[in-house]
Amino acid sequence: MEKIVIEGGFPLKGKVSISGSKNSALPILAATAIFPGSYKFTNVPDIQDVRTMLELLKILGSRYTFKNNKVEITSTKLSKHEAPYDLVKTMRASVLIWGALLTRFNKAKISFPGGCAIGDRPVDQHLEGFESIGYETNINQGYLESVSAGEIGGKFNFKIKSVTGTENLILASIMGDKETTLTNCSLEPEVDDLIKFLNSLGATIKRVKEKVTITPVLKLKKQTKAYKIIPDRIEAGTFMYLACLPKNELTITNVDASTLIDVIKTVKQLGAKVKQTKKSIKITAPNKIGALKVETNPYPYFPTDLQAQLMAVLILGEGSSSIRENVFPNRFIHVAELRKLGAKIKLSSNLAKIQGTKGLAGAKMQASDLRASAGLVLAALSAVGQSEIFRIYHLDRGYEGIDNKLREVGAKICRVKE
Ligand code: EPU
Repeated sequence: MEKIVIEGGFPLKGKVSISGSKNSALPILAATAIFPGSYKFTNVPDIQDVRTMLELLKILGSRYTFKNNKVEITSTKLSKHEAPYDLVKTMRASVLIWGALLTRFNKAKISFPGGCAIGDRPVDQHLEGFESIGYETNINQGYLESVSAGEIGGKFNFKIKSVTGTENLILASIMGDKETTLTNCSLEPEVDDLIKFLNSLGATIKRVKEKVTITPVLKLKKQTKAYKIIPDRIEAGTFMYLACLPKNELTITNVDASTLIDVIKTVKQLGAKVKQTKKSIKITAPNKIGALKVETNPYPYFPTDLQAQLMAVLILGEGSSSIRENVFPNRFIHVAELRKLGAKIKLSSNLAKIQGTKGLAGAKMQASDLRASAGLVLAALSAVGQSEIFRIYHLDRGYEGIDNKLREVGAKICRVKE
């Protein structure tokens, strides 16, 4: 195993180019299982989760190449309909294959995903949704076994907004027998990217705000042009908060600022200077970091996936801040690690109260999940002295070459074998 060693407290300056979106790439790659064909993608982030999804597709019978952020994948010989435990346990987003396999084979067998470091993550909305559009599911020896039980199509209202739930229902209904109407759907740009990809192949999916209507088609068209994955707004947000830390100044390029409106608002409230162009955001750290009260909520509001990174800034703020976590109420494992640096944080249920402190000192910390790891890296970069972060495989699941990107802007960071 590897650990990251950071010598913190040095100003970071320069340009950071944002990679393709993890949470767009995953459902879009899963979607290639729907219909036999050859598909090409560009701007695919070279991260562990993408490699896991590609391996899952290979186990099912697809063939792929992945080089220089380009994926070519052929799903003509995809013949299996089972997502095994070993893969689902390493990546929850493997459940996205569920909807795709239902369309391809009218049946799917998916290892039941468990909870994870960010909390209990049920799939009841996926299940109820599948049932409403005509699929029956049995739980058998830790597997969810779904089959079509008549005509596919119908209506479903999500009781809780679910990103992968919305995506799974779209994937499972695009070649059904009758129209499907989904309401209270997630508004995340990654859902739109999946819809755009599927519509580029001839699917007829219409979204009006939280309502998605799918008119089934008999088949999908041959792809004529490689599909480009949208930029990763969470990676962009991570570097934006890094730019807010003392003495830093970063220009973040290849970013779609329209997907980061609430995040940019917080950056300004922290006191940072923000200069935006169509595809770049330049941020200059404030002299004094302001205090904030923030709540996480589904898109377009402040994302849970940036909660730990914002906390890494607020621990150095002037006065008291708070973050209420409404999406994953227990997503606070990083708090205990940040305290090791000198951060003053009190937790009560889903509310973190943060009292800003003047300086942090490096320490040894343990990463627990992808975004928490990013928060620890940010905090370590601003803490004076050496920090070590263990279990960094979490970071590699979702950030492409993060240590290289950080070194390029002046960070003293290296990987060491434990
Ligand atoms: N929920 C249910 N029942 C369900 C589904 C969800 O109660 O059937 C609850 C969840 O427990 C949670 C809330 O609904 O409290 C929202 O969960 P959602 O289903 O939207 O999360 P997800 O689809 O499993 C995606 C991202 C996550 C991101 C969340 C929230 C992907 C592959 N994953 O997960 O990304 O945190 O939406 O925005 O798109 C990450 O990238 O680090 C990450 C965890």
